[in-house]
Amino acid sequence: MIGIDELDVKGRRVFVRADLNVPLDGETITDDGRIRASVPTIKKLVERGAKVVVAAHLGRPKGTFTPKYSLAPVSRRLAELLGQDVAFATDVVGESARSVVASLQDGEVALLENLRFEPGEESKDDAVRGEFADKLAALAELYVGDGFGAVHRKHASVYDLPKRLPHAAGYLVLAEVEVLRKLTDDPARPYVVVLGGAKVSDKLGVIANLLSKVDRLLIGGGMAYTFLKAQGHEVGKSLLQEDQIDQVKGFLEEAASRGVELVLPVDVLAATEFGPDAPYEVVDATAIPADREGLDIGPRTRELFASKLADAQTVFWNGPMGVFEFDAFSGGTRAVAEALVNSKAFTVVGGGDSAAAVRRLGLPEDGFSHISTGGGASLEYLEGKTLPGLAALEE
Ligand code: 3PG
Repeated sequence: MIGIDELDVKGRRVFVRADLNVPLDGETITDDGRIRASVPTIKKLVERGAKVVVAAHLGRPKGTFTPKYSLAPVSRRLAELLGQDVAFATDVVGESARSVVASLQDGEVALLENLRFEPGEESKDDAVRGEFADKLAALAELYVGDGFGAVHRKHASVYDLPKRLPHAAGYLVLAEVEVLRKLTDDPARPYVVVLGGAKVSDKLGVIANLLSKVDRLLIGGGMAYTFLKAQGHEVGKSLLQEDQIDQVKGFLEEAASRGVELVLPVDVLAATEFGPDAPYEVVDATAIPADREGLDIGPRTRELFASKLADAQTVFWNGPMGVFEFDAFSGGTRAVAEALVNSKAFTVVGGGDSAAAVRRLGLPEDGFSHISTGGGASLEYLEGKTLPGLAALEE
């Protein structure tokens, strides 16, 4: 995979596939982390005199123009962060895109409207995607892949377009891949992985792969209840994926036979209902009352997890330990994040909700070795899957 420094970009139209998929509250961006992470590549191209055409997706509008998924607010924030104008095209490959791109001068930046407004972007049909990629290719002379959070998607702008233009990886993709390689090739040990989040089904692949690589696996969040159930405990009204219990039993057995320490919560905050002000009590994880649901790991679990992280040399963390969006149930996620901040290990936060949690809880971003911009992408990388967007850049 070659990097952008090796491309001769001066005076040329360079298509940058970024991941600007940020959370919005109306038109207000609530976490601009992904936009900030995209700036170094764009800035460098500007400095080198390229005509920069940025493209990205926002949400899942499924192939139709949907005003609430417009990239217009992102365009304004990008301009602020770059300290220069960003010409915004109100379509993706239409009249507006063509004229905005045609009027770009060297060192100027344009942003196209949401790629997913076009059905060709996500089509499963290679020919349909290819036709859309041809239209994108007509807008530029070179391609830079920098949307790490989307490299696991076989989409036109991620996978088909780099096959049509001379291409290179941007700084964000290069940095993310370097970190993930470090985790997969030869991690310093003990190597501890902390997984949380609502659904165990989202993490099956990564757990299966990590069991042969890690020394310890700490499981919290909504997915922990399926593990507790698989061990034969009642979990009340807590999140449960009944259909995953057998597979989870298999993980418990495999961990035991491989000597991997699989650590589950020993206590939880059990609430009467799901809500920010729900009354709750701390109960043993093996004794959750039938009418309660676990919304966070309890104080003894926080200490236990911190102790299991204390001697780690490498840590990967993906997924919150509880409903961190509610202050009362954010303590478990905060405890894990703080244990990582206080650790001397190489610490990687795996994107998505956990990265948002770090910022929402006001923890110092430089307290971690790396905060990935890709939740799904980093998990699929650790699963050992081939990521279409990286494969295309490697060709
Ligand atoms: C993400 O938010 O993880 C990336 O932007 C990819 O978005 P997607 O899951 O909608 O493909």
